[in-house]
Amino acid sequence: MKFSYKFILPYICLILFGIQCGGYKILAVFPIPAGSHEILGNGVVNHLLKAGHEVTYITPFPKNKTIPNLRYISVVDNIGHLNVTLINLKLLMSRNIQMDQDNIFDMMMNLTKNTLKNKNVLYLLNDPNEKFDLVLTQWTFNEESSGIAAAFNCPYIWFFPYEPSYISLALIDEVTNPSYTANIEMRDIPPFTFWQRLQLLKFQTWKIWNNYFYHRHIEKEVFDYTFKPILRRKNRTLPHYEELRLNASLIFGNYHVSMGQAIRLPQNYIPIGGQHIDEVVPTLPKDLKKIMDEATNGVIYFSMGSNLKCKDLPDSIKQALLKMFSRLNQTIIWKFEEPIPNIPKNVHILQWAPQLSILAHPNCILLISHGGLLSMNEAIHFGVPLISIPVFYDHLYNADKSVSKGIGVKVDLTDNLADDLKVAIHEILNNPIYRERMKETSFIYHHRLAPPGKVLVHWVEHVIATRGAVHLRSPALLVPWYQKMYLDLALLLCLGLVLILWILRKLYCFNLQYKVKSKQL
Ligand SMILES: *[C@@H]1O[C@H](CO)[C@@H](O)[C@H](O)[C@H]1NC(C)=O
Ligand SMILES: *[C@@H]1O[C@H](CO)[C@@H](O)[C@H](O)[C@H]1NC(C)=O
Repeated sequence: MKFSYKFILPYICLILFGIQCGGYKILAVFPIPAGSHEILGNGVVNHLLKAGHEVTYITPFPKNKTIPNLRYISVVDNIGHLNVTLINLKLLMSRNIQMDQDNIFDMMMNLTKNTLKNKNVLYLLNDPNEKFDLVLTQWTFNEESSGIAAAFNCPYIWFFPYEPSYISLALIDEVTNPSYTANIEMRDIPPFTFWQRLQLLKFQTWKIWNNYFYHRHIEKEVFDYTFKPILRRKNRTLPHYEELRLNASLIFGNYHVSMGQAIRLPQNYIPIGGQHIDEVVPTLPKDLKKIMDEATNGVIYFSMGSNLKCKDLPDSIKQALLKMFSRLNQTIIWKFEEPIPNIPKNVHILQWAPQLSILAHPNCILLISHGGLLSMNEAIHFGVPLISIPVFYDHLYNADKSVSKGIGVKVDLTDNLADDLKVAIHEILNNPIYRERMKETSFIYHHRLAPPGKVLVHWVEHVIATRGAVHLRSPALLVPWYQKMYLDLALLLCLGLVLILWILRKLYCFNLQYKVKSKQL
């Protein structure tokens, strides 16, 4: 019988294909107990599952449903470790408390420690039978979770929920130049004035100094304490924290240039902003759909995100807002966490709101939010202009950014909120420029080679297939700062100059002595 390649080829392909797409084992680490972080983590995990991979998911929000190829590792007690006074709107307004940098560092360090001593997590880390091809971990204001990759002896990828900045880029390339790069923790938008440039330089230098001299050794202690025994049990030695924290294969950024600044990026920074938004948006519940369909003057959707609660606002502000809304011709959908008595006809309260489906409705003409990156992202996705009432961290920067892009208006969180908001609403509804700019921005956002979920899966598979994608790493990572600035050369030149001056002086003195001597003779 003649042996036919035509016959056997499909089987060879099938076998090869089977090996290649056999599904990798991926450990996803998203321990921050906040709604927006959950949404981002779920998005990442869903894309990996859809691509046929097997995901173990460390999360404070495990679901009861069993999903094929998905295993939850619950860190549900992380929920108690977020300082709720920091996100209480009333307290934020009355005491003027600031979420300052050390505040965030301490809170996140506690959260990380709590994650790493969670018994489910420790069980997983210590189990000699557990194997992973990749750890995909959210950055939690420290680099402890790089140790998880060491425990499983596999490459790891950071997920950054924020726009790229010197903090993320320092982990794979180098810090950004503060003279023209916006900093998400400051609010200035380039081009900067002299004074702004000074402030940005001061802030960035202080932050790097502070991290290096005050935070790093705390991190190192926790790292050694947690991971040394684990690695010892597995008969391996733990790499140095300093080395491992800079050993990520890639960074996935919750970012797209339409949402932020056009920043210079190294090869292994992969923007996947918008990955959490499914291509098919769930349909609205019937009653809500009816409200939105019938809103001939348009719908204004008001939500302060999943962490901040509008019910915490002072009563006077709540009443003033309701009164102001009642005078508008638009329908207001307000995400508010408890029932309100005597609400005006055109205001609808929702304790939980399907934000994406609301924004996707053609009658939605305005989003009022806290300036969180996800809300801004979603507004751009659906092309809805926005008003931001920034509260903390990157909100201030996001709000100013939306103003500079011409897609939104900013309103401060003060006792005068209702009046200021009224002015802002009139501005957005009566000036078509916001809608036009938003349409352009939305076009840029959608005009990509591939949807962000596909990009995510591609790079995850690339990192695993190339055992850590070492070829993508920036050479800048290994060069000390003084060498980048050629300070060693400058020092050498200075020394050379001093030497030459010294020689000249010696010659001159010698000459003088010689002359004096020859006169005496
Ligand atoms: C509401 O609509 C009425 C009638 O169309 C109009 O006269 C009024 O100015 C509108 N009010 C606002 C606040 O736009
Ligand atoms: C850094 O990552 C590469 C690729 O994943 C790996 O081969 C190497 O062992 C890692 N280095 C350390 C110190 O863990």
